[in-house]
This record gives sequence, C-alpha cells and structure tokens, in this order.
Amino acid sequence: MSGVARHAVRLSGPADFDGWRNAARRLLTNAVAPERVVWLVGGEGDLFAGAHMLPPLAAGAAPTVPRAFPERAAAALCHRDPERFALLYRLLWRLSREPGLLDIASDADVARLARLEKAVRRDGHKMRAFVRFRRLAESDPPRHVAWFEPDHHIVERNAPFFVRRFTGMRWTILTPDASADWDGTRLTIGPGARREDAPCEDAAEALWQTYFTSIFNPARLKVKAMQAEMPKKYWRNLPEARLIPEMIRGAGRASDRMIEAMPSAPPAHHHSLQRRLWAAPADAAGRPSGSGEPGADATTLDALAHAAADCRRCPLWRDATQAVFGEGPGDARLVFVGEQPGDQEDIAGKPFVGPAGRLFDSVLEEAGIERRSVYVTNAVKHFKFTPRGKRRIHQKPNAGEVRACRWWLDKELGLVRPRLAVALGATAIQGLLGKALPVTRMRGRTVQRDDGLAVFLTIHPSYVLRLRDEAEKAAERARFLDDLRAVRAAAAA
Ligand code: URA
Repeated sequence: MSGVARHAVRLSGPADFDGWRNAARRLLTNAVAPERVVWLVGGEGDLFAGAHMLPPLAAGAAPTVPRAFPERAAAALCHRDPERFALLYRLLWRLSREPGLLDIASDADVARLARLEKAVRRDGHKMRAFVRFRRLAESDPPRHVAWFEPDHHIVERNAPFFVRRFTGMRWTILTPDASADWDGTRLTIGPGARREDAPCEDAAEALWQTYFTSIFNPARLKVKAMQAEMPKKYWRNLPEARLIPEMIRGAGRASDRMIEAMPSAPPAHHHSLQRRLWAAPADAAGRPSGSGEPGADATTLDALAHAAADCRRCPLWRDATQAVFGEGPGDARLVFVGEQPGDQEDIAGKPFVGPAGRLFDSVLEEAGIERRSVYVTNAVKHFKFTPRGKRRIHQKPNAGEVRACRWWLDKELGLVRPRLAVALGATAIQGLLGKALPVTRMRGRTVQRDDGLAVFLTIHPSYVLRLRDEAEKAAERARFLDDLRAVRAAAAA
C-alpha cells in the first residue's frame, strides 16, 4: 500500500462506539476507502505516528444506511475480534454503494457481522444471569461487589440493565477489562480489576445455597444442557455452583425417592380391567339395561357391591378404574365412612389401603379397635382426579356426586345396621347427614339422623398427613386417637 495516504483513527477504548461512528462518518464523507484506514485503541500503534489525521466532516448529505445497521454495529463492536472496527467500516462503505447488502446472509462480511453480534448478545445474557453480588463486610451503607469474566467488551453495554434491576443498591461489577460502579445516582465505567478485589463470600451465601438446593429438581437433570447454558467457566463465581457436583451425584437417589413418593399412574392393565368391569351394556341414559336400578333388589352386601360395579349415577365412573365398595363384616357395630377411594384404592379395589389407610389402621389399633371387626366404606365410590403427566391428582367430590352416591351408602347402612357410624371428614358428614357441618368445631360430637342412626363426627386421617409441622402433626394424631377411643366407648355402651 506504499504511496497511498493512510489515516489512523485512535479510539478511546475497545468499545468506543461513539468514537468509531464519528470517525467513520468523516472518513466516508471524504471518500476514504476502507483499506486506507488503520484503527487503533488507546495508546497502541506508535508505528502509525506518521499517518494522516482524520479529515474533517465534508459538506454535503451524509450517506444513509439501513436502520438496523447502527444497532447491529454497536453490538458487534464490543467483540474482542481485533478486526471489528475495520470490518464495520468496510460494511458501512459497501452499504453506501449496495443498500441491500445486509440481506445477503452468504456475504462474508455480513456473515461475520452476524457472528460477532450473536456472540456479544450471548455474552450479555450470561452476564445478566451469572453476576452475583456479595456484600462488602461491614460496609455502611451496604455496598455490593461482583466479579465477572465476560468474553467480550460488554460491561458498559450491559451496565444499564443492572442499574434498572438494582437501582436502590450501591454496587460495583469488576471484570478484568472494565468495571461499572453505581452509587445510587450515577453510573461510572472505570478500569479493569483483579479477582482478589472482589469479596468471595458474604452472610447471605448459605441462605442462597439452601434455596438453590431446595429448588433443584433431580428428575429434570440434563447435565449437558445445563453445562451449555451455564458453562463451567462461570461456576467459580457462582455460590450455588459449588453444590452442583454433589447434586448431580445424588440426583439418581433423589429422583428415586421422588418417584416413590409420587401417586402412581394406573397400571397398564387399567383399561382392560375397566372393560371387563364395565361389561354390562348400558342404556342411552348411561344406566345398565335389564334389571332396572342396579342394586335396588340387593339383599346382601356382596350383591350390592357387585351391582355398584355398574353404577352410572354420576360421571365419575368413566375415568376411575373401578368402583371401590365398602369392606368388613355384615353385622359390624361400627361403620367408618371416608371421602372417596384414592389413587391406590382405585387400583386395589379396596378402601383405605393407601397412606391415609395406613395412618387410619395404626390409630385404630392404638384405640383398641380391630380393623377386621368394623365395616369401612366411603361417601363416594369412584376415585375423582385430574391427570397431570403420569400422576393422578386427587379432586374433592362435589355435592352432586356425594348426593348421587348417598344411595349406595344408605343401602350399605341399611344392610349392616351398625350401632354407630363414624364420619371421617367433611365429605363423609355430607354423605351421612345430607348436609354440611363444620368438622373442626363439631368433631367429637354425635349427631342423630332421622332414621335414628347415631353419627360420630371427626377428621379425615389425610388431614393429619398433610400437616408439615411435626409437633402439630403429633398433636393432631393424638386428638384423632382420643376421638377413636371415644368411638370405641360409644360402640361398646
Ligand atoms: N381416603 C378416603 O377417604 N378413602 C379411602 O378409601 C382412601 C383415602
């Protein structure tokens, strides 16, 4: 290039977009070709001391560029690529002659612009996601400092985001090339720093780690995807990252525990079981044809249970595996009535065999009542649920469903003729008495039905299971035990 005058442009910093734009305008209006320009940053490039200074802005209309270009150029200029200033000026030069250039994705300059821009935007996303502030010890008012290592010159470009997000906080972000400081009113971009200048831990760290552990879902662990989103180079600055290797190691065990605790999906033979159990042809109204009302003539519990398998009194039969009828001696003194079969009861076809059933059994035993001596049934005979993935989430039956199923409950009570019926929770009260009563206020009391049957009111065992606080759980279990002791005394009297 000897013999051709060269122009040296000295920018104030590696991401000095205003300086670049200013110089590019002057060069372009003076028709200085890209190959005659050398771009320098700060004090670099003494070799070019003899190059021409920038020409002043020439008179006349400034060339127009596509609207998107300045914004794209501002992003690409933050890239670490040493050729970026020259590339952008070359593009500007070409755009003044080829206005549609940016639409040609296969053009080498356009493709490179897209690559640079994308890398800078991605780096910015990482900065926004992975900057972690730590409070400087004993700073008053509190000051927070973060250390971050971006790939490109993105601090100034992304600092306004942190101003908006942490407006009320005094903070500094340190990086090897630049820093950003917000004192509550003013943002200052300064020189780079060293990692040791930032605190490594603060008092909130343990709390944050506990939170992170508790939201970590081992069943959704995808190590490769996680590392693509959170590359390892950021880990050393993230307090939660120290927990990740251990959590990955324990993920298998943790998800096994979650699966064990999950309600089960119906087994594969659910549909064939349904087909077999529903074999009786139904009429247009959904009632099995032939003998009229199924169960109407039943004189034994077995016959009644058999008829209940064809029940179409409400729509719950459609999704349940089977009707779960009561179980126990036909002459029991005591009848316990629950709400409806749960996930496990629906599959087993027996009442109270799941978690609530296990608690019920253990309290019954402590109260001195033998489960095999009592009749156990539910206000509603079909499992009501909403499917969520593979899980079936319990739904409370509504008043219409309870009313429809009362027909079966009354039949059961008419055959067993117990001395006392025990309503376990609100739905059972509704089923036994035909009206709602407040369980917590009325528990421990006995109410007489019009037909003379005495009904003892208490809670449902799943209420105890749902309590999180161990002390409260123990206290409620003890109260439930007291209720069942009272039931035993009343049935014996
Ligand atoms: N809950 C009930 O109310 N009944 C059952 O059979 C099981 C759980």
